[in-house]
Amino acid sequence: MKVLLTGGAGYIGSHTCVELLNNGYEVVIADNFDNASEKVIDRIKQITGKTVDVYKIDVADKEALRELFSQCDIEAVIHFAGYKAVGESVAKPTMYYRNNLDTTLTLLEVMSEFNVKKIVFSSSATVYGVPKVVPLKEGMPTSCTNPYGWTKLFNEQILTDATVADKELSVVLLRYFNPIGAHKSGLIGESPNGVPNNLMPYITQVAVGKREKLGVFGDDYDTPDGTGVRDYIHVVDLANGHLKALEYINNGHKGTEIFNLGTGTGYSVLDIVKTFSKVNDLEIPYAIMERRAGDVAIVTADPEKANKQLNWTANFGLDDMCRDSWNWQKNNPNGYD
Ligand code: UFG
Repeated sequence: MKVLLTGGAGYIGSHTCVELLNNGYEVVIADNFDNASEKVIDRIKQITGKTVDVYKIDVADKEALRELFSQCDIEAVIHFAGYKAVGESVAKPTMYYRNNLDTTLTLLEVMSEFNVKKIVFSSSATVYGVPKVVPLKEGMPTSCTNPYGWTKLFNEQILTDATVADKELSVVLLRYFNPIGAHKSGLIGESPNGVPNNLMPYITQVAVGKREKLGVFGDDYDTPDGTGVRDYIHVVDLANGHLKALEYINNGHKGTEIFNLGTGTGYSVLDIVKTFSKVNDLEIPYAIMERRAGDVAIVTADPEKANKQLNWTANFGLDDMCRDSWNWQKNNPNGYD
């Protein structure tokens, strides 16, 4: 089966590409490489011994996307492409809405022209907004606190409406919790531009000596140690969730189905710092700082629906996530640069 990965050279896309190739799928990547490195493609080949077709295009460029579909016999799409920085989305909302919605709309139009009926979408736990209760279940209310989050929720709505209109269309919406870790080879991993927004890449950059110390954003939350609690998931487990979603679609699912991809276990910022230090035998200097605007105390998933209906579970634990994140960073001190 030939699968198109939009944004396939990014952090989650590249790990999904490896798992797909290792499981006999053929892969075509469409990526504009704005926020990804072209070196990823060689690394994927090194890991899998297989090649992928790569189109350096913007997914919102309809003519370029049509050309891709006319040249490749695409049977299913996994749609990762999109801007993803929360703070930037607050500063540049129109850029976020334009890009993240245009890509999905163009993709749906071209898929329809070429009679492609299967799509998995990269959504986020951010669509639950400020949770009233945890763990979060798929049926719970949604709302967002920033334009990035709204683009995820609007895309969920667009895709859902498309399945109402076209009964042959199959959509799976995957709501990711907090992906960290890297492929065990240390050849692919997360390589953020500039100062990392997220916790794990910040920690690994402190560990490798690029940053002096971690700022812990608040220690007065209503959590066991006062620091924020999140549901961290190994990126390879997350990648495998996409294979399970494709199998689910191939088994005859029609319409829209939503799944949380998380472990169900929450860890605090200090849990992450301590575990990272323990498994890698490294000190991570840190200082308690003010809360970060928009952060909430606890976000955890109820993954039962994905466990049961997709036959998917997360296999890696926090030790693996911390070890693999560091293995990637120490082998690639400057990421792909
Ligand atoms: N944190 C720090 N210091 C840092 C970075 C983060 O203390 O330098 C803390 C945060 O306050 C939070 C936890 O580490 O308690 C995790 O923060 P991340 O930025 O790694 O992750 P978030 O949960 O804030 O964000 C993630 C995704 C977003 C998504 C959001 C909600 O990165 O894309 O979950 O689902 F929108």
